[in-house]
Amino acid sequence: MAKIAQKCPEIPVTVVDLNADRIAAWQTDDLPVYEPGLLEVVQEARGRNLFFSTEVDQTIAEADMIFISVNTPTKTYGIGAGKAADLKYVEACARQIAKVSTSSKIIVEKSTLPVRTAESIKRILDASENHPNFQVLSNPEFLAEGTAMQDLENPDRVLIGGEQTEEGLKAIQALVDVYAHWVNKDHIITTNLWSSELSKLTANAFLAQRISSINAISALCEATGADVDEVAHAIGKDSRIGPKFLKASVGFGGSCFQKDIYNLVYLCEHFGLPEVAQYWAKVIEMNDLQKQRFTQRILRSLFNTVSDKKIAVFGFAFKKDTNDTRESSAIYICKDLLVEGARLSIHDPKVSKEQIQKDLELSDSEFSNKIEICKNPYDAAENAHAIAILTEWDSFKTDALDYNKIFSVMEKPAFLFDGRNIVDLDAVRKIGFEAIGVGKPEEKV
Ligand code: UGA
Repeated sequence: MAKIAQKCPEIPVTVVDLNADRIAAWQTDDLPVYEPGLLEVVQEARGRNLFFSTEVDQTIAEADMIFISVNTPTKTYGIGAGKAADLKYVEACARQIAKVSTSSKIIVEKSTLPVRTAESIKRILDASENHPNFQVLSNPEFLAEGTAMQDLENPDRVLIGGEQTEEGLKAIQALVDVYAHWVNKDHIITTNLWSSELSKLTANAFLAQRISSINAISALCEATGADVDEVAHAIGKDSRIGPKFLKASVGFGGSCFQKDIYNLVYLCEHFGLPEVAQYWAKVIEMNDLQKQRFTQRILRSLFNTVSDKKIAVFGFAFKKDTNDTRESSAIYICKDLLVEGARLSIHDPKVSKEQIQKDLELSDSEFSNKIEICKNPYDAAENAHAIAILTEWDSFKTDALDYNKIFSVMEKPAFLFDGRNIVDLDAVRKIGFEAIGVGKPEEKV
């Protein structure tokens, strides 16, 4: 919304939320989310045509176009628990819009939703006692965290789905006109509603599938002496494959990939396509295996036990340049290491101590005295037996960190497990580290 406000100064944009603390934070320079470049855009538009408010009903009543951008977590209860998307927040929004609207409006689904959700939203809206005319559009978001502002500035595509009726097409055009302020028309795709909803789930499933595919190959690389980065580079040169999303890792995290694939799996099962469901479920299974393999490799290398050994964890966010830890592989790996008896000293440049403690469920846990959260990587490495790099922050790269200094304060033999393949293994081996990457030969070959 900040980007739309920045690019369309004549359109007033009001962001509403029930959470007053969040709305208050959006009015300060300490925004509730860390995203490079976001503050500058907010500052440019805030107070001019970008407003933040808790006056939900009044803002709905005044709006011509409403973006529903609430979260759709995986259901934790009842039918579809663990797979289906929980649509209670979306439904609550639709009901509130139906209740307070007296004029015609275009409702835009921005949240990621199962296919045919627009139909349910439309039925709820059409039951409104005031009988205004509603058009529902699907406009999924494709930005990635950490690069959100570039992604919004130059999107590969903007996708808008709507009903293929005269009124539906008019609504689609109204939203096209908003994006056309800065996005080239060739990059704005319009489709029917269901194609748009399904394209969002499919894009995330394909991206996650690429990561699981290269991670599967990383296991074979470790067994054979091939180097996964060399394999990825070689196959990525094929223009049909392309070089992106081929970086082997400790497994993908984030709030979207797993949730959206489970959602896809649930839809396939619902529509009687069990083989298709199983096909996509494997992408998540492979991701779980990748996290476990990383922990197992640490254990094996540290002479089959980490009990009472100190492991320095570099990075806790699910990727660099964000403070988001949702579904971060670091959470799973840290928990497994704790169960094995390890002591952990964790450093992340952006994730708060409170967040790490919450993610590891440390309050009244037997593990709470086994964890230390450190302000810098040097403190974390003090007397550690091993380092595990779990997020690819630039500040952990070989030229950014003084690995000589780190080596000097560690227990020997000093191990370095690079779960993101960002460190020059030869360089740190020369210092004396036993260095191990994902899908990398254990020694130079
Ligand atoms: C992802 C998609 O990339 C966006 O297009 C989409 O809009 C978004 O989900 C969403 O649905 O909201 P995001 O989760 O923010 O974006 O971040 P990604 O860059 O996709 O990374 C996801 C995970 O995959 C991270 O843990 C990352 O470290 C990992 N990853 C990514 C790899 O392990 N290897 C790669 O080559 C790329």
